[in-house]
Amino acid sequence: MSSTASAPAKVILFGEHFVVYDVKAILCSINRRVKVTTTPIDEKIIRIKSKIGQEDIKAEEETRPSFRPFAFIARKAIKEFNYEKGLEITIDSDIPSGVGLGSSSACCVAAAASVFGLFSSTTKEEILKIAIEAERTVFKNASGADSTVCTFGGIIEYDKKNGFNRLDIKPGFTLIVANSKQSHSTNTIVSNVGKFREKNPDAFLSLCKKESDLVNRVKTSLRDGDLGSLGKDMSENQRYLEEIGVSNERLRAMIDITDRTGHGSKITGAGGGGCIISLVDEENADKTIRNLQDGGYDCFAAKIDYTGLNV
Ligand code: PMV
Repeated sequence: MSSTASAPAKVILFGEHFVVYDVKAILCSINRRVKVTTTPIDEKIIRIKSKIGQEDIKAEEETRPSFRPFAFIARKAIKEFNYEKGLEITIDSDIPSGVGLGSSSACCVAAAASVFGLFSSTTKEEILKIAIEAERTVFKNASGADSTVCTFGGIIEYDKKNGFNRLDIKPGFTLIVANSKQSHSTNTIVSNVGKFREKNPDAFLSLCKKESDLVNRVKTSLRDGDLGSLGKDMSENQRYLEEIGVSNERLRAMIDITDRTGHGSKITGAGGGGCIISLVDEENADKTIRNLQDGGYDCFAAKIDYTGLNV
């Protein structure tokens, strides 16, 4: 008998970077998933299989960083349920990794649900706790925002002081996600923004205030399904991100292409590479994708995922 679970990718709709300085951010999960299957095996090992390779890990043996969360989750379950055999964990993902779409958080959530699902029925809240612990074996300071949105699905607002709050709305818009294929280090970019802030305290404070006002008004636009205003505010948010220096030529070129057919576009996540998102009318999705492909860019259309973790 095996146990399977899947979890979605995420994008940051508004507020990246400024969220580090206590401004509210808005995230949503999207319909790209990672599926994890756990199967009992007789050998007393943890076997991890994914597109990037396969590894058999014994007892307390170390493993490569990208497999560490899976080993952590498996060991936790083995200990908790006094399990005497081994586990084979297979990861099957259609989420591009390392480009700000929350691939590692989705893997942790799906893996926690898949492994623990083999032994007991566990609530989403409990799975989320395990997934965040697992993610922190690699990213020590992970806020938990990505794991939260991919566990529960839909749209959440997040700020450092008040934590997460799921927005009780279900807009059905289409986003085009374009991948620059430039991988980025979130830590380096966050630290560069810190330097910008030190050098330009007044300008940074004013941007935080503007971002905060923007996030408050987009909640109304989201509720009203006002795509025109949402798109304008995405482009406005992009201007703030450009001012703090996290955009680059390639991201700008992708944004210029999507702006020909969309309501507005911006970086999603840390920037310096990674992905952009563009808000488009459903009937313009194919045209936007063709324009990006003609420019040599990887992209796909996405909808908001309201399921979250699925077991
Ligand atoms: O690129 P991502 O999805 O890891 O997003 C980083 C978001 C930041 O606001 C830049 C950093 C953070 O910890 O919130």
